[in-house]
Amino acid sequence: MITILLGPPGAGKGTQAKLLADRLGMEHVSTGDLLRSARSSGTLIGKQAADFMDQGLLVPDELVAGLVAEKLNEGNKHFLLDGFPRNLFQAEQLSEIATHAGQRIVAVLLIEVPVVELVKRLAGRGRADDSEETVRRRLEVYDNETQPLIKYFADLNILTRIEGTGAVEAIHGRILDTF
Ligand code: AP5
Ligand code: MG
Repeated sequence: MITILLGPPGAGKGTQAKLLADRLGMEHVSTGDLLRSARSSGTLIGKQAADFMDQGLLVPDELVAGLVAEKLNEGNKHFLLDGFPRNLFQAEQLSEIATHAGQRIVAVLLIEVPVVELVKRLAGRGRADDSEETVRRRLEVYDNETQPLIKYFADLNILTRIEGTGAVEAIHGRILDTF
């Protein structure tokens, strides 16, 4: 089974994914984390991804899809995808990867947070791609490339909206209520 966490940069996908994975024994797959670890271990994919990440742009689809396919082929687990898919093409890639791995997308949880709050959260964190300019670019990329996925998954009747403001534990509770 595959559950997808969808939402803008700073929505709390990573934070909520860790809690959910611990609580429900799901396998957390964050493409951002996979790419950052590829970079720090100096792999070819890491090198190819670096400039895109530093600019707040999406890394080319094929690089990311390969990382996801590798994970989903690991076996019969409940995967929690965080940061993938991020555009319509990746959604179609995921559908193929899932079919090939004998997996099915069961739910898409959209974490909704107002932009002012996103900017405040990311400014307070300080990851390499959290500079003001890069955050602005990441938000634009989300609006232009990732937002269309909301309608895509809503049309498939698998989208649930989660109010993403308030205490981390309260949001976790709202997400658990959807299972
Ligand atoms: P990625 O690592 O996925 O970053 P992102 O989507 O921009 O989102 P973040 O990780 O910044 O935010 P989050 O939603 O996980 O929130 P978090 O829990 O950390 O991607 C990075 C880059 O990799 C991309 O720009 C791209 O280049 C590349 N990439 C990745 N996937 C790709 C793909 N599929 N295709 C192409 N390229 C890809 O929380 C944020 C902060 O807020 C934290 O400090 C946290 O402590 C805090 N916080 C969380 N919840 C709350 C709360 N309720 N109240 C207050 N603070 C909170
Ligand atoms: Mg994250």
